[in-house]
Amino acid sequence: MKAPPPPPAPLPEAVHTVETPVALVDMDRVRHNLGVTMQYARAHGLDWRPHVKTHKAPALARLQVEAGAAGLTVATPREAEVMAPVASDLLLAHPPVPPKAERLGALPPGVRVSVALDGPDLLPYLARVAREAGRPLRILVEVDVGMGRVGVVRPEAALSLVQRLVGDAGLARHLPWGGLLFYPGHVRLHQDRQEEALAQVAARLGAFLEVLEGAGLPPGVVSGGSTPTLFGSHRIPGLTEIRPGTAIFHDRDSVALGVASLQEVAYTVLATVVSTGVPGQAVVDAGSKALAREEFRAVAGEGGYGLLLDRPEVHVAAVSEEHGILDLSASTWSPRVGDRVRIVPNHVCVSVNLQDHLLAFGREVEGFGTIRLPGRGRGRVTAAPPE
Ligand SMILES: Cc1ncc(COP(=O)(O)O)c(C=O)c1O
Repeated sequence: MKAPPPPPAPLPEAVHTVETPVALVDMDRVRHNLGVTMQYARAHGLDWRPHVKTHKAPALARLQVEAGAAGLTVATPREAEVMAPVASDLLLAHPPVPPKAERLGALPPGVRVSVALDGPDLLPYLARVAREAGRPLRILVEVDVGMGRVGVVRPEAALSLVQRLVGDAGLARHLPWGGLLFYPGHVRLHQDRQEEALAQVAARLGAFLEVLEGAGLPPGVVSGGSTPTLFGSHRIPGLTEIRPGTAIFHDRDSVALGVASLQEVAYTVLATVVSTGVPGQAVVDAGSKALAREEFRAVAGEGGYGLLLDRPEVHVAAVSEEHGILDLSASTWSPRVGDRVRIVPNHVCVSVNLQDHLLAFGREVEGFGTIRLPGRGRGRVTAAPPE
């Protein structure tokens, strides 16, 4: 049974005066969401390796590690550099093309580094980087279970990549084979209607496992998972590790897919009503540069770019860069210029990436705390980033 969400934390007084748009994070809900994920993982004997691309913040990664994360997943070398001070086990779940692996090789020696790989092309490069850096780069062979993005498609091709890794002593020393990795990003149905899609994922994965096991090469790790499939992960036999990212905050997609309730959404964009001139709508100062222009794909026929946390019948129907148009047609609310609203974006990860920082509040936070986002951007981190 999932723990009930915490009661809403009081908002600091500054919520009325801080300049908008700005992103707010309810830390009580963050802790709740981390606890729910960890509890699920423990109940099913799965390791939890959250994806930090959602929050980009070492302070939040630290909370994930303290809550029981076995390691962290990153999408970029910069995320790895920024997270290295708070985690001793990092996985780059993105192809490590040159010169990205060099940056992984330069991480502090106490950090175990793994990379996802879906073909032999990068092997000579990765082996050279690992040799010159004097550290192994663990390889997880990425397989495609239906998304059609990256990943080896045929089980025989995965086997031949694994055989090459384990059969060549030079490679095996620098690039130890850790297991398999997949991402079921194509499964975006309501969680109560995922049974068939997850059975297909299980069958695709099963074909890879069968071929590897048949060759005497069972994978040690099978890393998968996403937020939409989070609570269906136990239906995928062989899975050992899950990598949800969005689940720390949740968003409009998570709610529509049944993975979270609106009371579990920890991230909102605070915005101010700037115009009520056109009947039937209100305009806020959060547009595509605060919310992002991400499609809402969860419910056919329902579009827009977000909804109001406290009035979910009000959607952001359209955005330009610094304007968001609220559709009031389903609401009795009569907003006035200066009113403040909290918007739940469709997809939180891209909204976070647009912010300078996040403002944290909650029962254990005095006023607003600042959460820095040094994982944003691409540049190399030369000194320890501030949390
Ligand atoms: C490879 C990989 N793993 C895990 C995740 C986390 O998925 P979610 O954002 O649904 O939590 C992503 C998301 O983009 C991903 O690309």
